[in-house]
Amino acid sequence: MAKKPEEYRVPRHVCIIMDGNGRWAKKRLLPRKAGHVQGARVVEQICEDAWNLGIEYLTVYAFSTENWQRPKDEVDALMNLLRKYMKDSLARSSKNNMRVRVLGDISVLDEDLQQSIRELEEASAQNTGLKFQVAINYGGRNEIVRATRKISELVRDGKLSPEDITENTFSEYLDTAGMPDPELMIRTSGELRTSNFLPWQIAYSEFYFTNVLWPDFDKKELENAIDFYNGRERRFGGI
Ligand code: FPP
Repeated sequence: MAKKPEEYRVPRHVCIIMDGNGRWAKKRLLPRKAGHVQGARVVEQICEDAWNLGIEYLTVYAFSTENWQRPKDEVDALMNLLRKYMKDSLARSSKNNMRVRVLGDISVLDEDLQQSIRELEEASAQNTGLKFQVAINYGGRNEIVRATRKISELVRDGKLSPEDITENTFSEYLDTAGMPDPELMIRTSGELRTSNFLPWQIAYSEFYFTNVLWPDFDKKELENAIDFYNGRERRFGGI
């Protein structure tokens, strides 16, 4: 049965596994990195669309701890794209009021990229528009281990007692500290896996899988995902 408009919910936090860049490029006889370039353009557009649809937090998986195993030229291309993204976002985020944060262990990234990330995070920290998280060198198990180390050090130094470690306090040591858990996770390109993306945070999330390749993902697709989240076919673009 169709829901009344007032029952229609837009998730506060959406996370996306942006998959299929390589296949998108292959279909066009282009190098894989061309798929990533197009994928990065889509990221910018989707941030705008997400905010216009009422989403507050958007988190994307840009580079996993496993992605280092890809050929060096592809890794370099992805790092250069992220470099460019951080630089370009410095001006863009002051215009569109977006707050950008990076999840993952950035300590192994090139020093200049770490610097750009810190600059962008600081410059956009007070922005009140979309809260956009980019996961780079991110792995969910790695995040949980890093959080556990931070907690262990506090316990060792007598600053935290084991009884005070609850699910809520544990969350505060994850990279997503202070953010609500995603209500909706989207994965493009037909793969039905969560691939170590936010395993703690998506414990209660709805999963939306689509065959669309990430470089072809658009506002309509995002609306389809929100419709799915609401348990119905169409709401956006006319009932
Ligand atoms: C997966 O597609 C995609 C990635 C590993 C990289 C995602 C990166 C971007 C979309 C661009 C940079 C991001 C930002 C935030 C500027 P795949 O290469 O595994 O595709 P395939 O499965 O078809 O080979």
